[in-house]
Amino acid sequence: MKKTLEDHAARFDEMAAEYDDSKSEEYRACAELVIRHAAPEADDVVLDLATGTGAIGLALAPDAEFVVGRDISEGMLEQAREKAADRGIENVEFGEGRFREPGVDRNIDVVVSNFAMHHLSDEEKREAIEAIGALEPTRFVLGDVMLFGEADPSEPFYSPEVDDPATVGVLADALTDAGFALTAVEQVHEQVGVLVAERPGGAVDADAAAATDAASRDDADQESA
Ligand SMILES: C[S@@+](CC[C@H](N)C(=O)[O-])C[C@H]1O[C@@H](n2cnc3c(N)ncnc32)[C@H](O)[C@@H]1O
Repeated sequence: MKKTLEDHAARFDEMAAEYDDSKSEEYRACAELVIRHAAPEADDVVLDLATGTGAIGLALAPDAEFVVGRDISEGMLEQAREKAADRGIENVEFGEGRFREPGVDRNIDVVVSNFAMHHLSDEEKREAIEAIGALEPTRFVLGDVMLFGEADPSEPFYSPEVDDPATVGVLADALTDAGFALTAVEQVHEQVGVLVAERPGGAVDADAAAATDAASRDDADQESA
């Protein structure tokens, strides 16, 4: 990690109030894919790790039984709570927690995380993915800055001074080592993507498979358009 957790928390505390106003096209595409692939059932509990202002968790709450949002920045969590209250969403809880110590004491069915794990070093990402595996979710959907090829050092999508994205290969290895099977890979940009990981023996449900197929078909349509 290029900054300490405290540094990252302070940085996001400072930008929390304006965070939702400054979103790239790639961020939006990534968030949409994470939401689509998460596809929770009505009785599923979702954990949104590094939830920030709750973009993903709040979008999934109407389809899930309950959403737990965890983050290290109290400023970001406060924004998430305000948004939940404004929208009348009651089946959510936002609190302090980190990738490697999520701080959850209930069964989790689906884990999601968007645009955050790239703050960790590759070794820390591996530990985080192990911690997520230990929660035994049926599905983990990771949207993030990740390197599909060689990062262009002259024009990186990320900020090298604070971000530390992994290659897709490193993430795929860590996911399979933690007992997940990679069931979909969505490339949004050379440096941004979404990985869908499921646990063999877990309920690989028809809706998620249909969402994966629909997303693949959409991508094929866009590519051929
Ligand atoms: C770019 S924001 C993304 C927020 C949200 N997931 C979204 O899609 O809008 C990154 C978030 O990761 C959080 N974060 C950074 N390192 C973390 C860690 N180790 N554990 C939990 N949250 C972390 C930050 O506080 C920040 O809210």
